[in-house]
Amino acid sequence: MVNLEVNIGKTTFKNPVLTASGTFGNGSEFDDFFDVSRLGGILLKGTTLEPREGNPYPRMAETPSGMLNSVGLQNKGIDYFEKNIYPKVSLYKTNVIVNINGNYIEEYVELASRVNKLDNIAGIELNISCPNVKMGGMAFGTNAASAREVTKAVRAAYNKTLIVKLSPNVTSIVDFARIAEEEGADSISLINTLLGMAVDIRTLRPSLSTITGGLSGPAVKPIALRMVWQAAKAVRIPVIGIGGIMNSDDAIEFIAAGASAVQVGTASFIDPMASVRILEGIEEYLTTKGFNDIKDLIGYINRK
Ligand code: SIN
Repeated sequence: MVNLEVNIGKTTFKNPVLTASGTFGNGSEFDDFFDVSRLGGILLKGTTLEPREGNPYPRMAETPSGMLNSVGLQNKGIDYFEKNIYPKVSLYKTNVIVNINGNYIEEYVELASRVNKLDNIAGIELNISCPNVKMGGMAFGTNAASAREVTKAVRAAYNKTLIVKLSPNVTSIVDFARIAEEEGADSISLINTLLGMAVDIRTLRPSLSTITGGLSGPAVKPIALRMVWQAAKAVRIPVIGIGGIMNSDDAIEFIAAGASAVQVGTASFIDPMASVRILEGIEEYLTTKGFNDIKDLIGYINRK
């Protein structure tokens, strides 16, 4: 038996495979495919204080080896979450993490305080990297002073595991990784999507209503891997790798580069069982390679 357990902040994850926010609904959409509780954790669809309708359609477009989205944080708000989603996700026997978003620091803080009262939520992913909203999101995560201020304020309001989700749309990912660590984050997750665009040459219109959107999928993997590697060398807190992880080989690359856990995103749109297949593949790889503990693989390339 291989030990797959990893610790991030105050949370023990039974294995390092998590799902990326916005690609796994609230878990129940996947119940017919596999036992969601097998995963190390699930990151729920981004939540805001008030309900949001999101951006106008079209807000998804396929690109070579990738996907553009401009959803704009559509969700029903925290009141609905507490009443209708929380009771259901509480039944999972895995870590449930809430991805929080806001226009202003005060909104992030209020959300963090509300989530702090929910016993069955293991942690918060502080989303300062959504590229599809006019206020909040990436505007916080690409400005060092704002990233620092919001992380500090949310840390003061939240006492369980705090993960800060970083934007790749910056010059130095290391600077933002260090800011999160300095302001008390337990972990960083990266990367959120890269700002991109596409044009439909039949209509000669942008493919997305918002013109630009966030690029994910295999196209971003080498960039994500490079950033995870850089960040993991720069901070002591655990790093969660995200970006084009389609199979267990991809996940193993991220772990060997320094990620303590991974989030599976776009892959779940193609194969709803991608995350659990990745988990099985990691276990098989470790057994074949003679590793008894996943921790021996984390950052392996940095030790040789
Ligand atoms: C969105 O809802 O637009 C995507 C969320 C994100 O990229 O953080």
